[in-house]
Amino acid sequence: MADKLRLGVLVSGSGTNLQSIINACEAGKIDAEVAVVISNRAEAFGLERARKHGIPALHIPVGRNETPEYEIADREQTRALRDHGVGLVCMAGYLRKAGPSVLETFAGAVMNIHPALLPAFPGVKVQWAAVEYGVRISGCTVHFADPEFDRGPIIIQAAVPVLQEDDGEALAKRILQCEHRIYPQAIQWFVAGRLSLDGRHVFVDDARAGSWRDGALFSPALELDL
Ligand code: GRF
Repeated sequence: MADKLRLGVLVSGSGTNLQSIINACEAGKIDAEVAVVISNRAEAFGLERARKHGIPALHIPVGRNETPEYEIADREQTRALRDHGVGLVCMAGYLRKAGPSVLETFAGAVMNIHPALLPAFPGVKVQWAAVEYGVRISGCTVHFADPEFDRGPIIIQAAVPVLQEDDGEALAKRILQCEHRIYPQAIQWFVAGRLSLDGRHVFVDDARAGSWRDGALFSPALELDL
């Protein structure tokens, strides 16, 4: 039996996306295993989730961008990911940029999830910004990371209705449900070797057009039953 692809997951907060990835791996829906979880914040609950599943959980402080501490952390993250035999890096609720060392070492194998339909609403607190703006549809995006925030080639998106009575919290909760579906799906396509890149266009072999699931539109269509 070939060794499973080993995932390195970067978190900054509660780690519910990490949990959905762990659950999908443990249920055999993703032919991979989470080999290490790294957080820039010692108190990130995502580290606790890793420990509960016997997964190495590392706190690597990250200084301010473009500072010596930031560069040291970038190299430390790279070393930790390589030491754990990682083949795909998943930024999941990770609120910092992937550094040049990580991006170079894992070129083409760093993903990120963003709780909006990029390129709309880049940045943070984007669910609140979407409600504030008055959009009728928002959603979430999994994309390959590049040196800038929220700009890499898009793998899968889910479109989520914004209800008239929504506040940021209600929308964030609804989008999060879809995040927990599109991230495992994107990872499984990567593991299955079904993703290819042409410039900024991601091609998913044999992917079907969009599919509806619980009031959201997934494009390409979800295949995993999550
Ligand atoms: C998610 O909406 C994620 O997209 C954003 O932070 C929220 C919490 O993520 N970056 P998690 O529960 O820590 O995975």
